[in-house]
Amino acid sequence: MRKQIAAANWKMNLTVDKAEVLLDNILSADISLSSDQLAVFAVPSPYLQLAQQKLNNKENFYIAAQNCYSKKSGAYTGEVSVEMLQSLNIQYVVIGHSERREYFQESNAFLAEKLNIALEYNITPIFCCGEPLSIRDAQTQNEFVSTQLEESLFHFSADDVQKIAIAYEPIWAIGTGKTATSEQAQEMHAHLRKVLADKYGKDVADNISILYGGSVKASNAKEIFSQPDVDGGLVGGASLLADEFIAIIKSLK
Ligand code: PGA
Repeated sequence: MRKQIAAANWKMNLTVDKAEVLLDNILSADISLSSDQLAVFAVPSPYLQLAQQKLNNKENFYIAAQNCYSKKSGAYTGEVSVEMLQSLNIQYVVIGHSERREYFQESNAFLAEKLNIALEYNITPIFCCGEPLSIRDAQTQNEFVSTQLEESLFHFSADDVQKIAIAYEPIWAIGTGKTATSEQAQEMHAHLRKVLADKYGKDVADNISILYGGSVKASNAKEIFSQPDVDGGLVGGASLLADEFIAIIKSLK
């Protein structure tokens, strides 16, 4: 059974004091998760170790890195390797967020390399895909997102591809307050699952968690997550508010 995941993406926000308070508030809340429900916090790199310690092995709660580099180690000033993440017991990494693609020119081929090294080190990637507004307006979003999957994921075996979680994040809905409707989310998630099923078979596709991202908040999470092919969300803005994110975690199906 595929996992239902509420993933916080803090992006480049919060000082360490505020990050600690936020995490403390969420971790001390009364949240009960079943074995197939997870809460994940993608925190800025300088806070990874602290956040990991704060979790104190709390069941079904995990820390993620927001990015990693494609090489094992070496002269890559400023980059974070999966070997470092593994040494901190970090088990998740966000790969290919649209902000990485846009501001740091990360291509589908480059993201494939990052996915390779993450799996090599047994770190679960949350691989982001999603179309800009111009593509949605031209109604070619299905083809656009299929290509992102094909060029970054389709070299994996069926065994390996199931180790990846996917986050569909339409760029026009990120940080804009403009959420895709639950029908638009379901439509795209069903399309992604079909693309995966055509390549790897239905059983494999049914095992892969596909999260929705883009202006998810406490007030819309339940409806979006209730869609049959939506397996939780990757949440930016609303994940910076304890009460909002607690409610979002509790909205997992
Ligand atoms: P948002 O961001 O929830 O603030 O729209 C989502 C994301 O970028 O992951």
